[in-house]
Amino acid sequence: MRRVMVRVRGVIPVPPELGAAGPCLNGAATCHAAGMPRTPAPDRFDAAFYRRFYRDPRTRVATRTEFRLRARLIGAFLRHTRLPVRSILDAGCGLGYFREPLLAEWPRARYTGLEVSEYLCRRYGWVQGSLAEFGPDERYDLVVCHDVLQYLGAREAAAALRNLGELCRGVLHFNALTEEDWRLHCDRRTTDRDVHLRPAAWYRRRLRRDFVDAGSCLFVHRSAPVHLWELERLG
Ligand SMILES: C[S@@+](CC[C@H](N)C(=O)[O-])C[C@H]1O[C@@H](n2cnc3c(N)ncnc32)[C@H](O)[C@@H]1O
Repeated sequence: MRRVMVRVRGVIPVPPELGAAGPCLNGAATCHAAGMPRTPAPDRFDAAFYRRFYRDPRTRVATRTEFRLRARLIGAFLRHTRLPVRSILDAGCGLGYFREPLLAEWPRARYTGLEVSEYLCRRYGWVQGSLAEFGPDERYDLVVCHDVLQYLGAREAAAALRNLGELCRGVLHFNALTEEDWRLHCDRRTTDRDVHLRPAAWYRRRLRRDFVDAGSCLFVHRSAPVHLWELERLG
């Protein structure tokens, strides 16, 4: 799946001018991919960001089709576990491309989109807040967190991962652009490189505390009444 930050099968030859030493997207002067962490400016996630990575067919890295296919995979997995889905949290929901296809899987479920982007919250009515601190009174049957944590520095990302364990009581669909994806899998011409790249193991180590990794970005909360056979789980 091609994603912001993207999933493209196989290794894409990258011209040297687009490699790690090249210019950043979003007009950034420095980039985390080149080892210079920086806290995102509050207005970073503005109309121009979503135009570039989602709306403009010439520059986008994600399409609605990819979210529809991913939602079907999540739906099939949840049905396989027999866990009911009445509440869905889309943490860092962006334009909300998951909303419609997830509600097609569970038409009676309640969808909550959480966002830090002021622009998006004003335009789409998402709940405004940071995943690192979001503390509602409820826990959600399904949490999706797609291509968000690479935008957070290490401390904030670790807090967000701990919070995912608090917010989810069923299944978590989680992915983030990793160091390995940057090196081996992503299309560097379209992928946002102004992010914090960390090894996949960094995420796995922290997710393991509260979740069992079932593969394909699906993580089952350790408290959920789900039995996974040995070969259904990784590690
Ligand atoms: C690349 S977009 C991904 C959007 C969506 N999840 C998707 O896959 O299309 C990253 C999103 O994460 C949001 N974001 C960044 N930091 C966040 C935080 N601490 N809490 C919640 N959302 C955050 C940004 O506003 C942005 O919309």
